[in-house]
Amino acid sequence: MPSIPNPRTRKLRTWVPGEKSSELIGVDKNQNQITLIDLASNDYLDLARHPLLIKAAREILETDGIGSGGSRFITGSRTIHQRLETKLAQWLDREIVLIYPSGFQANLAAVLALTDRHTPVICDRLIHHSLLVGVKASGAKLIRFKHNNLSELEKLLKKSRQSNSQKQPLVITESLFSMEGTTAPIKEISKLCVKYDSKLLIDEAHAFGVMGPEGRGESFGLKEPISIISGTFGKAFGSGGAFLATDKITGENLIQNCGAFRYTTALAPPLCASALAALNLIESNPSWGSALKEKSIALRNRLSQIGWQRPLGEGPIISIILGSDELAMDYQERLEAEGLLTVAIRPPTVPEGKSRLRLVIRRNTPVQAFERLIEVLKDT
Ligand SMILES: Cc1ncc(COP(=O)(O)O)c(C=O)c1O
Repeated sequence: MPSIPNPRTRKLRTWVPGEKSSELIGVDKNQNQITLIDLASNDYLDLARHPLLIKAAREILETDGIGSGGSRFITGSRTIHQRLETKLAQWLDREIVLIYPSGFQANLAAVLALTDRHTPVICDRLIHHSLLVGVKASGAKLIRFKHNNLSELEKLLKKSRQSNSQKQPLVITESLFSMEGTTAPIKEISKLCVKYDSKLLIDEAHAFGVMGPEGRGESFGLKEPISIISGTFGKAFGSGGAFLATDKITGENLIQNCGAFRYTTALAPPLCASALAALNLIESNPSWGSALKEKSIALRNRLSQIGWQRPLGEGPIISIILGSDELAMDYQERLEAEGLLTVAIRPPTVPEGKSRLRLVIRRNTPVQAFERLIEVLKDT
């Protein structure tokens, strides 16, 4: 079995108020402090250090403390949980939203709620690990289609319907793929699910706040056949925690039967408060997502102008496929030497031979960072 390379640990000092949120302080090989422009974090809208999120968390710390102290059904529920759930449901135009401590847990819960061991589960080949863990836990049969390949999905749906017409299948995809930067054709996938009477689960972890109409995700406006949408506060929302958005019946089933919702400590009140502050900011700045998309497309164009293959997709995740682990590490180091923090993504996170640099463009990424990046990549 090939050995798994050790993840490279970076010593990144914590941020000090007043420093630019686009910078992190790292340590070089000689233990000297260096300033790195952050081209790696998923804080797409630069909200993690936004004063309004910090204020919201600080205020609730004073009244509700740090932890919730119990599960939602014992002592953990606070008004802030309900306010956040109601506001999200309204923003996404869904009947019910339920908050979870993490996106990993929310995904596990969503898959378990929509499957039993007889359900044919048809997934995009590149979905997140948490969803695969959910499928495994359910005992359901996992069937995978090539990334974003609609004709293969249709073939699999048809086959599943012919061989097991009684059992409604479940299709699972992400809207913005975390390691590819590609966007799923959600409308077309929905149509296929309607045609073959399949349920649909969409993980919008990387999309909420930045993709779709006013950052409301690629699934916004689509009702049938979407059963559950999952989102996290750990990326564009700048904090931590997650949620599932769904219809009344599925929501009630999650409340009554879902251990990952019932038997876990409720999300810490300061995280709920900052998620609500983030949501209010995103709602009052509806063009943040489209502006970020424009920047991301412009950088892709620049990369292809200097001779690189144009990275797929149009969102803020830009994946530059390099092939070997060594080459990806080499580029990571070269960019770090120029003050740019990027991360080489290697197997097992991505398939063998597909190691890559994953760049993240954020709302406040300074223009100089792009110029420096292009300078380094131009000369190679
Ligand atoms: C696509 C996707 N879904 C779900 C998750 C899990 O979210 P969280 O970090 O809130 O557990 C991640 C996080 O890495 C992700 O990339």
